[in-house]
Amino acid sequence: MKVLVTGASGGIGKAICRLFSEQGHRVIGMDLLPSDLCSENYEHVIHDIRDTDWPDLGEIEVLVNCAGVQTQTAEDIAVNLSATIELTEHYAVQENIRSVVNVSSASALTGSEFPHYAASKGGLTAYTKNLALRLARYGATVNAVCPGGVITDLNRHILEDDRLYAAVLDESLLHRWSSPEEIAEWVVFLACVNRSMTGENLLIDNGEALKSNFIW
Ligand SMILES: NC(=O)c1ccc[n+]([C@@H]2O[C@H](COP(=O)([O-])OP(=O)(O)OC[C@H]3O[C@@H](n4cnc5c(N)ncnc54)[C@H](O)[C@@H]3O)[C@@H](O)[C@H]2O)c1
Repeated sequence: MKVLVTGASGGIGKAICRLFSEQGHRVIGMDLLPSDLCSENYEHVIHDIRDTDWPDLGEIEVLVNCAGVQTQTAEDIAVNLSATIELTEHYAVQENIRSVVNVSSASALTGSEFPHYAASKGGLTAYTKNLALRLARYGATVNAVCPGGVITDLNRHILEDDRLYAAVLDESLLHRWSSPEEIAEWVVFLACVNRSMTGENLLIDNGEALKSNFIW
């Protein structure tokens, strides 16, 4: 299939591009930054998803929205929600589309983390359902993955602080964070294997939201 992945140069997006490429799909990665991913079926496009002068990429069959920022300002909503919606409306609302997977966040479902970030991802939850309703006419599925902690540059300030990292691991039931490769496996499954689930937001957080103290 022909797959477009945004945020393709970063931890999770790059792992998604690599896994789709390894499985023989034609992959186009879009990012502000260059990529060092080398594969004959991988093409990299440098583009800011806030720029609506969209490059012509032909008919896309799978769209993975992974570009995201955590700035603690309204920019989180501009990139993670508004630009993601505009890009999706441009590339995915057409009859060749088979699947859209949004990389959201556990904070979309729990309200945790920073205000603009949580709101941007919460908005993506509603948009995932809205798009699922509209793309069903093409037989396409639309879902979101909502990761908890993932070991990427986005969390460098935590990963480089041993005490803080130990403290956040204590918050998860399985006492671990996910790798970008694990999230990529969920995304590829949702896009290529799943045919019957649509409009859902999957919490993949190593049991962090489930963990609670029984205090009476
Ligand atoms: N790392 C985590 O713990 C975690 C948890 C939940 C959700 N997420 C989400 O996963 C996605 C990927 O995050 P990551 O951890 O790989 O972070 P990352 O910072 O490593 O990667 C994000 C990528 O998005 C690109 N990007 C940012 N703004 C862009 C724009 N305007 N146009 C084009 N590209 C842009 C960046 O250049 C970068 O390559 C994000 O949407 C993030 O919110 C991450």
